[in-house]
Amino acid sequence: MRFATLALLALAALAGCSPPAPKPSPKLAWAYPTGKPVALPAPPAGPQHVPGSPLTLDLVAIEKAGALPDWFPDEHPAPPAIVAHAAAKGPTPCGECHLIAGVGFPGAADLEGLPAAYIIEQVKEFRAGRRRSAQADRLDTLEMIKVAQQVSDADLAAAAAYYAALTRRARHRVIETDTVPATRPSYFGWLDLVANGKPEPIAGRIIEVPEDTDRLFLSDPHLTIIDYAPFGSVVRGEKLVRTGGPGGQACASCHGADLRGGDTAPPLAGRSAAYLARMLWDFKTGARTGPAAAPMATPAGKLNEAQITDIVAYLAARAP
Ligand code: HEC
Ligand code: HEC
Repeated sequence: MRFATLALLALAALAGCSPPAPKPSPKLAWAYPTGKPVALPAPPAGPQHVPGSPLTLDLVAIEKAGALPDWFPDEHPAPPAIVAHAAAKGPTPCGECHLIAGVGFPGAADLEGLPAAYIIEQVKEFRAGRRRSAQADRLDTLEMIKVAQQVSDADLAAAAAYYAALTRRARHRVIETDTVPATRPSYFGWLDLVANGKPEPIAGRIIEVPEDTDRLFLSDPHLTIIDYAPFGSVVRGEKLVRTGGPGGQACASCHGADLRGGDTAPPLAGRSAAYLARMLWDFKTGARTGPAAAPMATPAGKLNEAQITDIVAYLAARAP
């Protein structure tokens, strides 16, 4: 009995010493949407088109063959198998979530034009357990961790070289507004538009939605993603980025003068506001941790939710 009590006390003392478990903030719920379990929509049957592509594709047949739609094959070199094809025992191909064009999908990051060394490093961080989500059960991040654990180093190098060689694309349009279309959190970690929903007050959020949901599910890399942001957020964000805000280190000092990436830090300009907000919160709460993430401890550590919202509105609005 006495031993049990002592053991409990020791456990309580240990718990008291360890940092609190990372958690998403309710004020950033827009960046960590979590909906009820549903199946992903099946690919639409019959011949499909997207604007500007010379191709007509049958997505059902493509899926059956373990391949992925490639609407603009002239815009990139031939992708390695790990990017574009499912293999019997291999991980889900990178292009399933990041697209063959590398522009990403809501919920997953854009990879096109990121430095190859950074891509490799980050996959190894996922693998090592140093890169998680502040939302412990975030499906998207758990999927990425699974890929990181399954991918061979040779395939990872091939994927990194392929994505790093692509030119970054402008994909986001930031619109400052008071009211936003009605959305609901999807199971997969992004916001779904509610058909015929009543517009809602923006209430300090950023609402990131595709310009066209059908084209999203056709994996059209030319699709624009709209980020509705609160009035004044872009100007306030610009000032925070320039000064570094409460951390006092100008973001450009590491991320490059135009925020298009520095020697040691990845690009930030023109990226998904929801993704960037999650990353800042993940750094702040220690969900993204270890020596690679250490340079972000001070810049992200003292940011509050409103400052994060302003910063990412500004960053998403910049030309990539
Ligand atoms: C099932 C979906 C999925 C697949 C397949 C996938 N990823 Fe990811 N990836 C994600 C998600 C989601 C994130 C963002 C995770 C987070 O931090 O919360 C991500 C993030 C990344 C990042 C971090 C980008 C940054 O800016 O820091 C890299 C690098 C990456 N993935 C590389 C790869 C590579 C290489 C492959 C193929 C070997 C791959 N991914 C396959 C979903 C996926
Ligand atoms: C001292 C250098 C430094 C400063 C200053 C800095 N960063 Fe970073 N940042 C980094 C590094 C290095 C990484 C990559 C971390 C890693 O490898 O895990 C990074 C990563 C990030 C990421 C994640 C990008 C991705 O692809 O997932 C975001 C978002 C970010 N920084 C935002 C900012 C903002 C906003 C500021 C200014 C308030 C800032 N950073 C200031 C060095 C810096």
